[in-house]
Amino acid sequence: MVLVAPSLLASNFLRLEDECKMINESQADWLHLDVMDGRFVPNISFGMPVIAQIRKATTKTCDVHLMIEEPEKYAEAFKKAGADRLTVHLEVCRNLHRNIQQIKSLEMKAGVALNPHSPVELLSDILQDLDTVLILSVNPGFGGQEFIPHTYQKIRNLRRMIHDRGLNTLIQIDGGVTLENAGNIIKAGADVLVAGTTVFQAKDPKAAIHTLKNCN
Ligand code: DX5
Ligand code: ZN
Repeated sequence: MVLVAPSLLASNFLRLEDECKMINESQADWLHLDVMDGRFVPNISFGMPVIAQIRKATTKTCDVHLMIEEPEKYAEAFKKAGADRLTVHLEVCRNLHRNIQQIKSLEMKAGVALNPHSPVELLSDILQDLDTVLILSVNPGFGGQEFIPHTYQKIRNLRRMIHDRGLNTLIQIDGGVTLENAGNIIKAGADVLVAGTTVFQAKDPKAAIHTLKNCN
């Protein structure tokens, strides 16, 4: 079963309650929340106070993608704000194993995100501890970018690593996911599709979510 995680970044921030209601009524599995600090990525989005309000409005799993430096400083605050799943970037974690243990000890599902230039093989000695690997299929920081084709190879390589070790780590793809490429992304071995523009800029967002759900 394909899991779909609409990314709120592409929604209408003036109408967050309505956007959450629409997602509640849809077949979406998780609500993807992109936190940016203007340091790790060249953009700033939203933080804990906004997520705490969204938590009240959504019935979905809150999937928080931290594009921030020093994520360990804020893990507890994101738990308090309502995060169910917390994903940190490999590129900012000098003590990744410790970061993952921290997230788990706070009773959240733990994920690691990889920028387009980071090989999936770098996760070789941490994979067994992860609930999710998020492969960025665009450079992080902005919605509405084009999917980087090399991502397919990364998905296939990671799928093989997970399979060979008998793990059930989920592979999540984030960036440039469309109704056209979703089927190929799933075919390559992904489990979770993040989609911002494709969902929130669609004429019928619930129908777009339905199409993503059934793209395999
Ligand atoms: C990129 C974010 C994505 C973004 C995806 O930095 O991590 O979650 O919202 O947006 P689309 O689906 O429009 O590429
Ligand atoms: Zn994201």
